[in-house]
Amino acid sequence: MDSFSAHEPDIADLLAARPALAMDAQAGLLFEGVPLNAIADSIGTPSWVYGAGSVRGQISRLKTALDAAPVKAHIHYAVKANDHLAILALMRGQNLGADVVSQGEMRRALRAGIAARDIVFSGVGKSAEEISAALGAGIGQINAESAEELAMIAAIAQGQNATAHVVLRMNPDIDAGTHAKITTGVAGNKFGIPAADIPALYAHAARLPGLHVAGLALHIGSQILSPAPYRAAYEIAADMIAALRAQGQIVETLDLGGGLGIGYGDDPGLSVAAYAHMIAQTVGALDVALMIEPGRFLIGPAGLLLASVNLVKHAGGKRFIVLDAAMNDLLRPALYDSYHGILPLSAVDMRGQASLADIVGPVCESSDMFAADRLMPELALQSRVAILDAGAYGAVMSSTYNARPLAAAVLIDAGQYKVIRPRQRIEALWADEQIPDFST
Ligand code: LLP
Repeated sequence: MDSFSAHEPDIADLLAARPALAMDAQAGLLFEGVPLNAIADSIGTPSWVYGAGSVRGQISRLKTALDAAPVKAHIHYAVKANDHLAILALMRGQNLGADVVSQGEMRRALRAGIAARDIVFSGVGKSAEEISAALGAGIGQINAESAEELAMIAAIAQGQNATAHVVLRMNPDIDAGTHAKITTGVAGNKFGIPAADIPALYAHAARLPGLHVAGLALHIGSQILSPAPYRAAYEIAADMIAALRAQGQIVETLDLGGGLGIGYGDDPGLSVAAYAHMIAQTVGALDVALMIEPGRFLIGPAGLLLASVNLVKHAGGKRFIVLDAAMNDLLRPALYDSYHGILPLSAVDMRGQASLADIVGPVCESSDMFAADRLMPELALQSRVAILDAGAYGAVMSSTYNARPLAAAVLIDAGQYKVIRPRQRIEALWADEQIPDFST
């Protein structure tokens, strides 16, 4: 097991923790009532499957918790978690804004119908072209991460006769206690402006022509499972806002970032009720417009990756289950040693005697592994599995390494499913490539 989950759940635990999944004795594993075997029969594997009901369910859980706290906060979906237009359209349908970190993400959000004023542009290294495009589109807010960037935004805004609505991203120097590769709020990493530099920079930025300085932002990391690090960071933000106001600055907005952790095993993940309550306690009385930027929480549990068994091999006393999905499809286990539950699709497979196996992909890298020493029933060739909680940071981090085409994707809604991305054609892998005359 890894740092993402405390103990290893078995198949029954994984199922029990996920009401959207059910095992039918005939049809096999159902997701939102749809047999996953039927999807695999029609479009093959590997394939991403997303559940619209699960997305709406997560949004509603979060909104209910905020309302109960009570906290008024606008939700801006972090597009980087899953940028498919169909997913963005679902978010827009629930009145969410978007948090984007590139011109590509901004264009996707606009294309899916999210209004420019509901889009926040974050990111540590926006190019001049991106800033110009964002201002041209009428973006709602730019989260600036340095003095250098503020100067750049001000100059571009003046050149375009526009006013950039900016907030300053503060680095509160709080360790969110997650995987080192996804912690962003500690001193010494590349993100944000050190808290000590904020007062002078805020005053400076407020005087720059072309800028409307609206407030502060922070984001301390991802897959955060306890409100404690958030509380520490939000208290620092509240103190900072008081200090800025005491200096005579106007602070209208506080962007609380994302990072809400989900349960990858049979644990519940971050309690959104506790999170919302903590927001009310720490920053609820500040008289600022609050926003949050969750990605994983909204889409992670709503997606899975279907795969088939290419081969079962025994070597060195071990059983290796080789799938047709690989690290090029779902990179998280290889990159972060992250845990994903894996369930057989067939009820017969599911009932089989379980023993330890390494579940791997066919790519030529030792790190191409979905699970090491996982209890798994006997699986025959062509048996299928679902790799769970793959909706966030799954398809978006895919590559075509080993010349493997991008997997197909399907969206389930109200018992129906639609292909939202066909499997990439092999020929598409080189469609844009040229062989220059001189290299032959
Ligand atoms: N806002 C900002 C400024 C961010 O950098 C991020 C994520 C988010 C919001 C959304 O965070 P979330 O709510 O999804 O945790 N690839 C990694 C996660 C990287 C997160 C990067 N920033 C993974 O697969 O775990």
